[in-house]
Amino acid sequence: STARLEELERLCVELALASGRLIRDERPRHVGVAATKSTDTDIVTVMDQRSEELLHRLIREARPEDGILGEEGVDVTGTSGLTWVIDPIDGTVNYLYDIPAYAVSVAVVTGDARSEGQWRPVAGAVADPSLSVVHHARRGGGAWTSRESAPGAEGRRLSVSTQDRLGRALLATGFGYDPEVRARQAEVLRAVLPRVRDIRRIGSAALDLVRVAEGSVDAYAESGINAWDLAAGWVIVEEAGGVVVGRAGPPGKALTVAAGPALVEPVRALFDPATH
Ligand code: IPD
Repeated sequence: STARLEELERLCVELALASGRLIRDERPRHVGVAATKSTDTDIVTVMDQRSEELLHRLIREARPEDGILGEEGVDVTGTSGLTWVIDPIDGTVNYLYDIPAYAVSVAVVTGDARSEGQWRPVAGAVADPSLSVVHHARRGGGAWTSRESAPGAEGRRLSVSTQDRLGRALLATGFGYDPEVRARQAEVLRAVLPRVRDIRRIGSAALDLVRVAEGSVDAYAESGINAWDLAAGWVIVEEAGGVVVGRAGPPGKALTVAAGPALVEPVRALFDPATH
């Protein structure tokens, strides 16, 4: 029901803001490389862990029956059919270097969040603590940007760009951490770059999706992203009038493309490794 979705969206906003404040305000004291994950460049900061712990605790308190899936390893199976998919710091490398483009992404999804193509977001929020704003949406409710100081007030409504020409499109993309994946991504870019206006590598997939939703880039394409990078931004893009697709159906590891309706298929074809 609408009331239930409104409540979930409100909670996404509240949790993303709480973690956003934590990571921003504690950064000067705690930033540092805690450990590496898949490769030497794939880092986890102390604050990734603390932010995930905070989200985990707040979700357990507010919604004890829901599942939780987090980037840093939280994995709770619920009984309600809803799963919270959380990225405690998206844009960890920016965070480490103090580049103001990192986010906390919090979403509620239905289906099996652990299986690609088997889940859909119903509500989500992406907090951008450097700018003191939060972007949020729920199914059927539009996509919005609100100020951190007044998250309940009427915000700014988001809508995707109307650009329909690849040659005039500003694209955002991102890279994985694995050197072989990066080599393939560089090869795809070799074909893409001469055909578009320009490319941005913002450094946070959640913020890339928000940029598409607000029309400050025309499209986003990346291969290899995870559910927690995608979940909140997906519903925000769709509620801003955009389309999110994957290589052969739902967005996922192989390829995720987000854009306005006119541009999504040309961008998808351009980034599909099968076409190179
Ligand atoms: C990464 C960022 C980056 C994207 C990578 C993600 P993390 O997430 O979103 O922009 O290119 O694919 O893994 O590691 O900063 O949470």
